[in-house]
Amino acid sequence: MPGPGCALPHVAAARPAWHADGVTSIQRPAPPGPDVAALRRDYLGAGLPADLPGDPLDLLRTWLADAIAAGLPEPNAMVLATATSDGWPSARLVLLKGIDEATADGPVGLVFYTNYRSRKAVELDANPRAALTFPWHWMHRQVRVEGMALRVGAPESAAYFRTRPRGSQLGAWASHQSAQIAGRAELEARYGEVQARWPEGTEVPAPGFWGGYRVVPEVVEFWAGRPNRLHDRVEFRRSGSPGGGWVVRRLAP
Ligand SMILES: Cc1cc2nc3c(=O)[nH]c(=O)nc-3n(C[C@H](O)[C@H](O)[C@H](O)COP(=O)(O)O)c2cc1C
Repeated sequence: MPGPGCALPHVAAARPAWHADGVTSIQRPAPPGPDVAALRRDYLGAGLPADLPGDPLDLLRTWLADAIAAGLPEPNAMVLATATSDGWPSARLVLLKGIDEATADGPVGLVFYTNYRSRKAVELDANPRAALTFPWHWMHRQVRVEGMALRVGAPESAAYFRTRPRGSQLGAWASHQSAQIAGRAELEARYGEVQARWPEGTEVPAPGFWGGYRVVPEVVEFWAGRPNRLHDRVEFRRSGSPGGGWVVRRLAP
């Protein structure tokens, strides 16, 4: 895993010669691969609703339902960003498995499940600040959430684990997520071992090293694409005062 200490010399060494020589961008050789600079798309969406709800999670639920209804692939996939306690960031996709209501047991939040020994979990346990992004760009929409990620209780994780297909349950046991492995054969051998341990007809228990996190939102931002790059952006920020609700402000695109 890279660390901040090794980053800068490595980046400097990797810079192409034109960068160091101050050659202008016009003289750069054509980069290999597709011409992504020429890709352009107008965002012609309807923008944000005029009557914004008081609670941003209500609008998030509505947009999630819209993404599902529109047939977007993996509509509940969200980019999860974490960082080490000294600030080295990393990001990956995870699946949203629920937006719950606040209860006596805990605050409202966005729940995903993972391996508690994975890189993301090790980072979250040391530094619980997390960011989530729903990349619904096909619908000219994006939602960003920032907040603290807290482990969900073991009974709640186990209850969700029981709803997973058997293959996914066994896979959770077989994969030491984020650890180095020799090859695919090692993974498949481990899967065989757990299959033998819990033969068909027996219940696969939830591993103690697997469970959920609930990201408790402090900031929620909605982005809706509009023509001429004059997109709508509205940020909801939790007010500092107890029971104070959300402070809403509009941001330049
Ligand atoms: C569409 C999609 C959904 C994913 N959902 C999850 C998930 O819900 N939980 C999870 O642990 N990994 C999920 N992954 C895999 C992660 O992106 C990542 O590879 C893995 O969790 C290891 O990340 P880490 O080493 O940074 O901890 C998903 C990947 C994709 C492409």
